[in-house]
Amino acid sequence: MSTLTVHIKSFGCQMNKLDTALVSAALGKAGFTPVDSTQEADVVLINTCSVREHAEQRVLSHLGHLKHIKENRPDLVVGVIGCMAQRLGQELLEHEVVDIVCGPAQIPQIVGLVQERLQKNEKTLAVTENIRKEGLDNKELEEFESVYDIANKEMPGQAYVRVMRGCNNFCSYCVVPYVRGPEVSRTPAAIIKQIKKLADEGVKLVTLLGQMVNAYKYITGQKIYSLADLLYMASEVEGIELIRFVTSYPAQKFYDEILKAMADLPKVCNYLHMPAQSGSDKILQAMNRHYTAAEYLQLLARAKDIVPDIALSSDFMVGFPGETEEDFEATVDLVKKAQYKNCFIFKYSPRPDTVADKKLQDDIPQEVKKKRNIKLLAIQEKISAELSKQFLGKTVTVLVEGPSKKPHLDSAKNGYPQLVGRTATNWIVVFNGPENLAGQFAKVKITKSSPLTLFGKLGPV
Ligand code: SAH
Ligand code: SF4
Ligand code: F3S
Repeated sequence: MSTLTVHIKSFGCQMNKLDTALVSAALGKAGFTPVDSTQEADVVLINTCSVREHAEQRVLSHLGHLKHIKENRPDLVVGVIGCMAQRLGQELLEHEVVDIVCGPAQIPQIVGLVQERLQKNEKTLAVTENIRKEGLDNKELEEFESVYDIANKEMPGQAYVRVMRGCNNFCSYCVVPYVRGPEVSRTPAAIIKQIKKLADEGVKLVTLLGQMVNAYKYITGQKIYSLADLLYMASEVEGIELIRFVTSYPAQKFYDEILKAMADLPKVCNYLHMPAQSGSDKILQAMNRHYTAAEYLQLLARAKDIVPDIALSSDFMVGFPGETEEDFEATVDLVKKAQYKNCFIFKYSPRPDTVADKKLQDDIPQEVKKKRNIKLLAIQEKISAELSKQFLGKTVTVLVEGPSKKPHLDSAKNGYPQLVGRTATNWIVVFNGPENLAGQFAKVKITKSSPLTLFGKLGPV
């Protein structure tokens, strides 16, 4: 039995966090002990993201930090896994601290790769030569995924369940199709089996993951399974109390069906994350997004029609090539009309291989990107502040995540630590309560609101 320790760091999206959980489970099974810091670790794995240059730079600077540690501990094994590993391959392996480079398709091999490295002093590269052709559609991955038997450790009672891999959408700015390969849907049977297993282990909330989750489609015999079908099937699983899904692409296909499932099924959270990216039709076209701002707003109106208390959120990008003040104002206008609960706003960052990088000049100066980012955030903050006020004096049910990482000074105290929970519609709620509520539902009376956080008092459960 090995008594070696491993520390895994995640730098990416929910898919990336799920891969980290899988890798961590596999190493745990093989006898490695997880530890919280690099200092205590014999093996350090970094699960990486390539979606923006900044994400990659953070990894490179972390590798620089590991270089100092490795100077004193040459036996430290460093592995880079995930999207950046797939994108850079050999180039990353040449970095002096890196021992293993392992792409998203090779994570089932991770235990072997680490053990091999511990025995032999050789660097190893495990990525897919032609990811657009080979993709992530292999038996090994499916098997690896199906042994996934731990819930999200940071969030008790919650788990991610992948329903699709890859993406075929080729938004002109996006690297994902080039690092995760073509879109494939997992079988409904495998997904439901996994949800049942998670429910048996005490999971109450599952979040179904796909880059374009509303495109989920699995054909067997005469039947075509859509995301709506999955929602009905997952709702039947005893023990599961909440179901979310991300990320939705603004498209008509299956849209009403999914919203009707949301309206019909009490377990499906009334929450839709549907990135618009821009409010300018010219920019949307250049982004290869297949909708206009007006069509997008019609989809939101439809959502509000079918699910009246739906909470909406979105992603936006500012400073895409050719974005004029007028284009940006169109985005501002769309944000005002949409009335999102919250938005993620990013500054455009050119990604190698993508069409936008090859064909368009990154012509918006950094200061302009920054200015637009700040302005859009401020506008959204006002909207969020207005929407959050509606909760004042009301009692909400939250699924408790655990102790607050950044305790807020001005919340009511009752001798208990400050906890964080989320409503089904994804509002963050901070309150004081016993730590053992983590992973449980609690009722909280809201006494104060801010744009992104609600504060309240724990009520009788
Ligand atoms: N599949 C999801 C998530 C993609 S990545 C979707 O389609 O929405 C998450 C977000 O990162 C995107 O919504 C987009 O807003 C942002 N993003 C993607 N590529 C980017 C780039 N090159 N520069 C800046 N932001 C980017
Ligand atoms: Fe990227 Fe577009 Fe696919 Fe999302 S839908 S992962 S933004 S290519
Ligand atoms: Fe996720 Fe980043 Fe890869 S957003 S899919 S970890 S490029």
